[in-house]
Amino acid sequence: MTDETYVGAVDQGTTGTRFIVFDHGGRVVSNAYETHEQRYPEPGWVEHDPLEIWENTKAVITRALGQAGIAPEQLETIGVTNQRETTVLWDADTGTPVYNAIVWQDRRTTERIERLEENGAVEAIRSKTGLEPDAYFSATKAEWLLEEADPIKMERARPADVRDRAERGEVLFGTIDSWLIYNLTGEHVTEVTNASRTMLYNVHDLAWDDELLETFSIPRAMLPDVRPSSDDETYGTTDPDGFLGAAVPVAGALGDQQAALFGQTCFDPGDAKNTYGTGSFFLMNTGEEAVASDHGLLTTIGFQRSGEPVQYALEGAIFATGAAIEWLEDVSLIDEPSQTAELARSVDSTDGVYVVPAFTGLGAPHWDQRARGTIVGMTRGTRKEHIVRATLESIAYQTRDVAEAMEADSGIEMTALKVDGGAVKNNFLCQLQSDIIGTRIVRPVVDETTALGSAYAAGLAVGYWDDLEELRSNWRVDREFDPEMDEDLADERHERWSQAVDRSRDWARD
Ligand code: G3P
Repeated sequence: MTDETYVGAVDQGTTGTRFIVFDHGGRVVSNAYETHEQRYPEPGWVEHDPLEIWENTKAVITRALGQAGIAPEQLETIGVTNQRETTVLWDADTGTPVYNAIVWQDRRTTERIERLEENGAVEAIRSKTGLEPDAYFSATKAEWLLEEADPIKMERARPADVRDRAERGEVLFGTIDSWLIYNLTGEHVTEVTNASRTMLYNVHDLAWDDELLETFSIPRAMLPDVRPSSDDETYGTTDPDGFLGAAVPVAGALGDQQAALFGQTCFDPGDAKNTYGTGSFFLMNTGEEAVASDHGLLTTIGFQRSGEPVQYALEGAIFATGAAIEWLEDVSLIDEPSQTAELARSVDSTDGVYVVPAFTGLGAPHWDQRARGTIVGMTRGTRKEHIVRATLESIAYQTRDVAEAMEADSGIEMTALKVDGGAVKNNFLCQLQSDIIGTRIVRPVVDETTALGSAYAAGLAVGYWDDLEELRSNWRVDREFDPEMDEDLADERHERWSQAVDRSRDWARD
C-alpha cells in the first residue's frame, strides 16, 4: 500500500453498480461491479429494489478498495453518478423505501401523460423543464407512488398514509443519486442535472416549480435540496462508524449522461458525446444558453460548479440500444454481446431487414410512448446474422436521427463525435456508426467516462484537481473511425430505416 490518494466514483446504472478508483491522471486503479435484479411485474413496468442497489453499492466499494489494497482514508472524495429519472420514495425515520424504485424505462404512467394534453399542461412543462412530457421522467412516477403504492404489500393499493406522511416530510423523494447520497451521508440532497430530469424542476429559475408540483400533486416537503454538480461545500461525509469506516466527503454528483459529458471533457459549447449503454444518450454542451429544441430534443442541465453559472446541454435520449443487444441474448440469437460483430460481419448487408427496438416506446427525436419493437423486411431467406446486423444497425440509425436533430437545433455541423459506454469496444459498431452518420467517431482511452466525470466533479470540489485544463490534459484518443461507406448508400438505408420507424409507431393499445 502506498500513501498516494485517489478519488472514488459510484456509477449506479440501469443494469448494475460499479465503483471505480481513479488516480490523479484519471486512470482506473481499481474497479468492481455488481448487477441487480430487473423486475417486470406487469408488461411495460420496470422496477429495481433500492435496498439491493444500496447493498451492492457498499459491496462494490469494499471490493474495489480491498482488491487494490487501498485504505478508505486514501479516498479524498467520492463522486456519485446514476441512472437518471428512476424514482425512490423512502421513510425519513427508518430509511426504508416505501416501494420498489420505478425505473426510467417504466411505462405505467403513459395514460397519465396523455391526459396532460387535455389539461393543457404540456406547454408549461416544455417551457419550464425543457423536457418533452413523457412517462420517462420522475414526476408521474412519484405521483403514482403517492397514489398507488402499498408500503406493506408492495402492491397497488391506496394507503392514505404515504401522502400524509410525505406532506409532513416524513416520506422523502429522490432520484438514485439522492437515495445513495442519503445512505452514504445521511443528507437529503440532489444536484442540478438530476433535478432537471424530474419534470418538476424549472431549469431557467433553477428551482422546484410550484405550478408543476401542483400539477402532479407532489408535496414540497418531500423534495431534496438541489446542489451544484461539483460542490465545494460537499453534500456530506460518510460515517466513520459506518460500513466504510472512514469520514470521506461526497462532493460531486451528476446524472450518468451528464457525467459522461463531463468525463469526456465536453466543457465548451458545441462539444458533444454519445454514450452507448442500455439506451444511448447524445448530449451537446450549449454553454450558459438553454437552447430550446424544434426537433424533438431535450433541453437539460449539463453541469454546474460551485459559484458558477449552470451549463446547459441539448440531449437526444434514445431508449433502447444496448437493450437491443441484451434482447438478442434473451431470445438466444447470440450467447454473448461480443459475438455480434462477427455475426454481423459475416453478411454484406441485412438483406433489407430493419429492426426497430422500440421496446419501451421511442424517445428522441420521435417521442412515441406507444411505439413497440418491430422487425420488417424478413423473407424466407432471412438468417439470424441478418437480424443481428439489423439490430446493430438500428443503434447507428437511431444515433443518426438524433445527430441530424442536434445539427438542426444548434446550427453546428458536427465534425467528430466522442463516444463511450460498453458497446464502443465493438470496432464494427464504431465503424458502422461513422459510416451511417458520415462523421468521424472518436473513442477515448478511458471508456469509463461516466464514472470519471463524477470523480472529476467531486475531485475539483475538494481540490484534488485544480481546474478544467488539468482534466483536459488527461483525455486521450484510443482510436478514430472515419466514414468508409458511400454517402448515397448510407442515405438510402437511413431512408428505409425511417419507414420502418413509421411502422413501429402507435402500436401499443390498452
Ligand atoms: O436517462 C436514463 C439513463 O440515465 C440511463 O443510463 O447507462 O444506466 O442505461 P444507463
